[in-house]
Amino acid sequence: MTAHSTPDTAIIVVAAGSGTRLAAGAPKALVDIDGRSVLRHALDGVFAAGPMQVVVVAPAGGEQQVDAEIRASAGERRHLVTVVTGGATRQQSVAAGLAALQDGVRIVLVHDAARALTPPAQIDAVAAAVTDAGVIPALPVVDTLKRVDGDEITGPVDRSVLAAAQTPQGFPRAALQDAYAAAGASGAEHTDDAALFAAAGGAVRRIDGSERAFKITTPADLERARMLLGARSAAPMLPRIGVGTDVHAFGGEGDLWLAGLEWPGEQPLSGHSDGDAVAHAIVDALLGAAGLGDIGQHFGTAHPEYAGAHAQVFLARTAEMLAEAGFAIGNVSVQIKGNRPRFSGRRAEAEQVLSAALGGASVSVAATTTDGLGFTGRGEGIAVTAVALIHPLG
Ligand code: CTP
Ligand code: MG
Repeated sequence: MTAHSTPDTAIIVVAAGSGTRLAAGAPKALVDIDGRSVLRHALDGVFAAGPMQVVVVAPAGGEQQVDAEIRASAGERRHLVTVVTGGATRQQSVAAGLAALQDGVRIVLVHDAARALTPPAQIDAVAAAVTDAGVIPALPVVDTLKRVDGDEITGPVDRSVLAAAQTPQGFPRAALQDAYAAAGASGAEHTDDAALFAAAGGAVRRIDGSERAFKITTPADLERARMLLGARSAAPMLPRIGVGTDVHAFGGEGDLWLAGLEWPGEQPLSGHSDGDAVAHAIVDALLGAAGLGDIGQHFGTAHPEYAGAHAQVFLARTAEMLAEAGFAIGNVSVQIKGNRPRFSGRRAEAEQVLSAALGGASVSVAATTTDGLGFTGRGEGIAVTAVALIHPLG
């Protein structure tokens, strides 16, 4: 007798794939999700399940990192772990894992490391359900399915007779090893262990799978895993600030437009639109806060539809872009530097117009002169600075 009795169940965690579709620059199992790798999460699930021998099938060259992940995850179950190197196909990797099973093992589970968030209860449920028949966890198919020939829809598919297979898949050990030997001899490649087992004449039953056992295959799947783990949940809730400035020279024909108001009798500002430097500074502050680029990109000369447009048009469209990106506007603070117009008498009116254009967000506008200094002091033009605070929506 050793200090530890040999478990009668083993789980082979296949982690040797390259992750071509994820394209993350490393074998998929070693890719980071939230400070912990795909494999680390998969192993955490495995070690939270009932005690079993754990065979980790590592990517060639990745054995050292795999060892480190096992040390971090296994704790006192370290003695239950064996590491082998994988093969060119998943089937070969599983075969390498089968060769490392301990003698007393009677039930074998085969699990994709890529199903990193599989609940431990699913692992236990599969192990408990294995008889002479194999067991797979599966989910009902929710999409409406079509039979296709290229781009042609050639017919419907009855989804009620279909199920989406997950892992771990569990089998009686001897029958699975026989099935693998038969597949090896015939050279047949199967897409999962259940198919290989069935090809050798074995029966396979299903139990309920779970949404969390989805396979990380594409970058969108990795993002889904990150969201589920709440890896980003702290960051998006923080407010964000942005700053914008704009300068326009006095010049041209007509009346001045500033801060969303027309100022009859005042010298106009020149510019692609109406030259409303207050509106332009606010747009840059808001776009900057949201990380959405700048005014030139969205409203510049490449967008002739905005030529001559007034503040309301820019601001309303900007507020819309922020909402589409998931942000609400907290407040905007603006400072105008210039000798003219005399702003204080129309401050309340300007703030109201700007606020309404931004869907009711608080806007405050201050104005100052520059003591006769610089272009603003000489009356050649005005300069505006705006600061915006925005926050992510729920
Ligand atoms: N796998 C393996 N050995 C291989 C191929 C795959 O151990 N030669 C493992 C993967 O590491 C993964 C599981 O099988 O945990 C499911 O495979 P898949 O999602 O296809 O992973 P990859 O083959 O790595 O990805 P891709 O097909 O995009 O390259
Ligand atoms: Mg693959």
